[in-house]
Amino acid sequence: MRKTIIAGNWKMNLTAVEAKNLARSIADYVGKRSDPLVILCPPSPLLSIVGNEIAASNVELSAQNVHSDDLGAFTGESSDTMLHSVGCAYTLIGHSERRAIFNEDDDFINKKVKRVVAGPLKPILCIGETLEEREQGKTNDRIKQQLRDDLKNVRISSGEDLIIAYEPVWAIGTGKTATPDQAEEVHAYIRQLLEEIFTENTANAMSILYGGSVKPENAVEILAQPNIDGALVGGASLTMDSFTGIINSV
Ligand code: PGA
Repeated sequence: MRKTIIAGNWKMNLTAVEAKNLARSIADYVGKRSDPLVILCPPSPLLSIVGNEIAASNVELSAQNVHSDDLGAFTGESSDTMLHSVGCAYTLIGHSERRAIFNEDDDFINKKVKRVVAGPLKPILCIGETLEEREQGKTNDRIKQQLRDDLKNVRISSGEDLIIAYEPVWAIGTGKTATPDQAEEVHAYIRQLLEEIFTENTANAMSILYGGSVKPENAVEILAQPNIDGALVGGASLTMDSFTGIINSV
């Protein structure tokens, strides 16, 4: 059985006090519930604060980004070893905002994935097409290219060692969501590609999350799709009502 995951990507939002309060409320709400698996991705200065609040619950901690080296002169960056030492079990890699705003290319993302799968964290690799690519009918080409390049020479022993998040760039923070059918079509294609890259067993055991304007109002239908194994939630993960609404949609 694939794990169903609801991950909240807080992006560059919340102060220490706000993060502590929200994390505590979510930890109290989730408690020892393990289905769905709830993951919080706060900004790096808030990781320890959030980690402390969720420590006694089943909520897991994820970074929003990681570097491909272990240590050294990389001002502003964090390594997987360091992130693990403050309580992270996961890290996002290749979020579209990192790709577009911070110019992260597939080669760099591939280096990060290769390092992280060999270490203590599990990567949540984000992929997705732009509006222009979708309108030109190039969605599948883009997805195929990203998966092939980002996962080049990546070795994993089971499908649980890696999570994929499909986030169409045109649906992130825009209020536009892919229809459940549109999302399912791409998720099924991603699983087929994962089978070619790894094995059928690995592909079938891998959770593929959908992201892009997921909210309580659309979560039930999206999460009901056979190849959609959870959600990566941005804006709607910043308040208790909307985030728990999504958790309850599973
Ligand atoms: P959104 O962001 O839910 O605000 O669209 C999703 C994401 O970027 O992970």
